[in-house]
Amino acid sequence: MSDYRIASIPGDGIGVDVQIEARKVLERAAELHGFVLQWTEFDWSCERFAQTGTMMPDDGVQLLAGFDQILLGAVGFPGVPDHVSLWGLLIPLRRAFSQYVNLRPVRLLPGTNTVLAGRTAGELEMVIVRENSEGEYSRIGGRHGTGAGEFALQESVFTRTGVERIVRYAFELAKTRTGRVVSATKSNGIIHTMPFWDEIFAEIAAEYPDVHSEQCHIDALAARMVQQPERIDVVVASNLFGDILSDLAAAVTGGLGMAPSGNINPESTHPSMFEAVHGSAPDIAGQGIANPVAQILAGAMLLDHLGERAAAGSVSAAVETVLAAGEVATPDLGGKSTTAELGTAVAEAVKIS
Ligand code: NAI
Ligand code: MG
Repeated sequence: MSDYRIASIPGDGIGVDVQIEARKVLERAAELHGFVLQWTEFDWSCERFAQTGTMMPDDGVQLLAGFDQILLGAVGFPGVPDHVSLWGLLIPLRRAFSQYVNLRPVRLLPGTNTVLAGRTAGELEMVIVRENSEGEYSRIGGRHGTGAGEFALQESVFTRTGVERIVRYAFELAKTRTGRVVSATKSNGIIHTMPFWDEIFAEIAAEYPDVHSEQCHIDALAARMVQQPERIDVVVASNLFGDILSDLAAAVTGGLGMAPSGNINPESTHPSMFEAVHGSAPDIAGQGIANPVAQILAGAMLLDHLGERAAAGSVSAAVETVLAAGEVATPDLGGKSTTAELGTAVAEAVKIS
């Protein structure tokens, strides 16, 4: 029997609520599929920041290094600036563990309502491959001057290694799907980094003659995602563009409560980290009504990355069964159920197929 060591960081707000449900479902899948998940809980959060002045201890990265994978709820809470929670926890972990792929699969699940009329489950299915270690999210820059002369500068960093590896990942992924890749660019307005990105995209595309490739400006791609989402399969995007597009993709397929994400170290030399696309949602935190599906599906991605493919498949199937039946649904899905009721229903629906 395989044993896996999993670090759990519930974080803040609804991160805590949905993490409990995801663990419930993964425990059930592990039991049925005959492996053991050994959880270790870390209280790293904005609450910890308020008490100690740091989101995680100084040796946080070393503490996590020995784990197989990390399951993260969400961090961020009013009172702690968002750049503190992001740069004090998420970004250092993504970079220290070389989780350079942020993989965000999106599909229209049964029993959920899309804002797009007339679409049914199975019709909308795409995946955003977001660059996760450089790009627009950089520390380079600063604030200068005072008064009316005050200004801020922020630099982006695009390295050949960084762009090549994310683009190649997208092409490899496309080979296992419909064989289409679209690159999000903006080389008309951003005249140094984006033409560099486009050039590397074209070079890698030439290595994959069987994959259909095209580039599209981010603004037009955003419109296409709403008007013709069926034309999109794999999207490869820089850190910022991928961040924005994945919230949009989640919104067109039923909301942020449905969209999982993986911060993946493809070489598996470090742990990968799985989390929902959504944040800590302070507006509904503590009410027990957050939709746990995104976090449960993030858990399915974690199992898949561990190599427990059958268990991952049975978790996704359980989510679909419960949503299709429509009897247990949180308010964002038009129902009246609680986070725990939906989590328990999914856990009970996990079967060996
Ligand atoms: P958010 O994703 O937390 O919430 C946006 C809207 O979607 C809210 O109205 C919320 O109620 C709703 N929503 C989100 N998840 C839901 C769920 N599972 N079920 C039902 N409704 C759901 O984004 P927001 O409000 O921009 O950020 C709140 C905090 O979260 C901030 O501090 C932000 O920095 C942090 N954040 C953290 C992330 C992370 O840990 N990876 C990612 C995004 C935001
Ligand atoms: Mg985001």
